[in-house]
Amino acid sequence: MDLKVDLDWDDEEVVSGVHYLDTVFLFNRMTEGTQSMVAPRKGEWILDIGCGKAADALQLAECGGKVAGLDPSGRMLREAKDYLTKCDSAVALVRGIGEALPFKKHSLDKVVCKGALDHFPDPQRSIKEMSQVLKPEGEAVIAIANFESLSCRFGRASHSIIKKFIKGDHPRTPWEIPLDHTYKFDYPMIIGLVERHFEVKKILPISLLWTTPYWGKIISIPPRRISQTILVFLDMIARRVPSLSDVIIIKGTPRCD
Ligand SMILES: C[S@@+](CC[C@H](N)C(=O)[O-])C[C@H]1O[C@@H](n2cnc3c(N)ncnc32)[C@H](O)[C@@H]1O
Repeated sequence: MDLKVDLDWDDEEVVSGVHYLDTVFLFNRMTEGTQSMVAPRKGEWILDIGCGKAADALQLAECGGKVAGLDPSGRMLREAKDYLTKCDSAVALVRGIGEALPFKKHSLDKVVCKGALDHFPDPQRSIKEMSQVLKPEGEAVIAIANFESLSCRFGRASHSIIKKFIKGDHPRTPWEIPLDHTYKFDYPMIIGLVERHFEVKKILPISLLWTTPYWGKIISIPPRRISQTILVFLDMIARRVPSLSDVIIIKGTPRCD
């Protein structure tokens, strides 16, 4: 298989810098939402694809799952190993890619892939692989950032106006596709890819306005309790307008056909 994968991917670029409340809220909701959709049961075989530091994999193992984390990046797997040695629950680490899962057909109860599919050279092939390694009644949970969210649309529009008036170099913005991403996902695209191999059982859209220009600074002004209430309220609105939400979480079972 001839796929270009970064074998030394590093999350430093993604997680460094100032984290305003909206970012902290989004990351936490994404983790909570994904974990609650996976809802691990004791003894279930679960694979976290694109596991990074394996923080999610560990949480799933702590709930009783027999968990493996898969990632192609040697750097991330080393960090995961260091992280896991400090913890009690066991997570098996596997070096590999989502497009060629080294697991037997129908051997797993659940697979999860959080914030990673837009780094894969061939997301469609990976989704097909997920459907094949899962037991017929198994479940896949995929969480992905929506680059057609309300904030991305607004950010791009306002930025293009600014560029017209202010000439010169402009720094990269959060609404442009990050350089380490292979695909730009939006709501219809992710649903379309998943539906080819899965029956969609649940969709959980998460958060609204993340990375809107100045939003992080504005939402950090009121007392924390009020900011949190606003963010929770926006999260509730996101559920009604999935195509504008910041992140989409989907759960599905493999198609029988
Ligand atoms: C943004 S990180 C997400 C890590 C983790 N799931 C989380 O939520 O913290 C994306 C991960 O996908 C991994 N990745 C990139 N291409 C991949 C592929 N083809 N198959 C599996 N994982 C891949 C990267 O090495 C990286 O660890």
